[in-house]
Amino acid sequence: MTAGTPLATREKVAERLLDASAKHSFDPDTELDWKAPFEDGKWFWPPELCSLYDTPLWKHMSEEQRIELSRHESASLASIGIWFEIILMQLLLRHSYDLDPTSGHVRYALTEIADECRHSKMFARLVTRLGTPVYKPSRLDHNLGRVLKTLSTTPGSFTGTLLAEEILDWMQRLTFPDERVQPLTRGVTRIHVVEEARHIRYAREELRRQMSSAPRWEIAFTRVSSAEAARVIARSLISPRVYASVGLDPRYAAELARTSPHRRDVMRQAARKLMDFLDEIGMFEGPGVRRMWRSSGLLG
Ligand SMILES: [Fe+2]
Ligand SMILES: [Fe+2]
Repeated sequence: MTAGTPLATREKVAERLLDASAKHSFDPDTELDWKAPFEDGKWFWPPELCSLYDTPLWKHMSEEQRIELSRHESASLASIGIWFEIILMQLLLRHSYDLDPTSGHVRYALTEIADECRHSKMFARLVTRLGTPVYKPSRLDHNLGRVLKTLSTTPGSFTGTLLAEEILDWMQRLTFPDERVQPLTRGVTRIHVVEEARHIRYAREELRRQMSSAPRWEIAFTRVSSAEAARVIARSLISPRVYASVGLDPRYAAELARTSPHRRDVMRQAARKLMDFLDEIGMFEGPGVRRMWRSSGLLG
């Protein structure tokens, strides 16, 4: 391996990420105060990032009902986050299966899996503490997730990873500094933002390499299957059951959220940097591909 080759660069990035992991990793069990009571009047998720914000329904809801909705939406994002992370851990293991286990690249993949293990336990603990139901994706999406994680190509795995990570990351970066928000939510999102920055770097670098080296059929399949993954991920974030939990008609509320200009704008903003990156590496090329991606609501 000579300096400057794609493999040498990959190793260099991995070593840097391993260093950063050694310096900035958290144990959520000891880092956060899980027993502290929630503070009255504080949000569990920033109101502008709640799915119904600025809809006619939101205007009729009392402040308590809005805050209660933020509690359930925060729990939905955490529950769905666990679903994403469990898929992602499997994808990283599959990626490592064929590679040299002593390489920095695989050691970093294993480090990232360890991060995701702690995150999923942290999210599970948050859901328990929030005292809400465990929100799950629809049965269809749960099974689509099974198909996507089984059949996914290597570039598809890293695209799916970035879709889940960057959209949540954008929201969490607005959440952890927000003083209107409960300290526990702020603590969980702060830990997640710090550790996910490395994951995003790793996935972007690998995806860029994959898109210029994978066989043509694999890239063509990835462009289409990842568009489907984008649709599944975008529509799964908030379970319609959260609306029923706060006394709203779930169908009506879900439809309002789906068509809300504010919400559409939030989703597109959350995905904008990632969509620019995917565009740059050729993810939307090919007949009809860009249209498929647009239907996820993430690409403007
Ligand atoms: Fe995570
Ligand atoms: Fe991650």
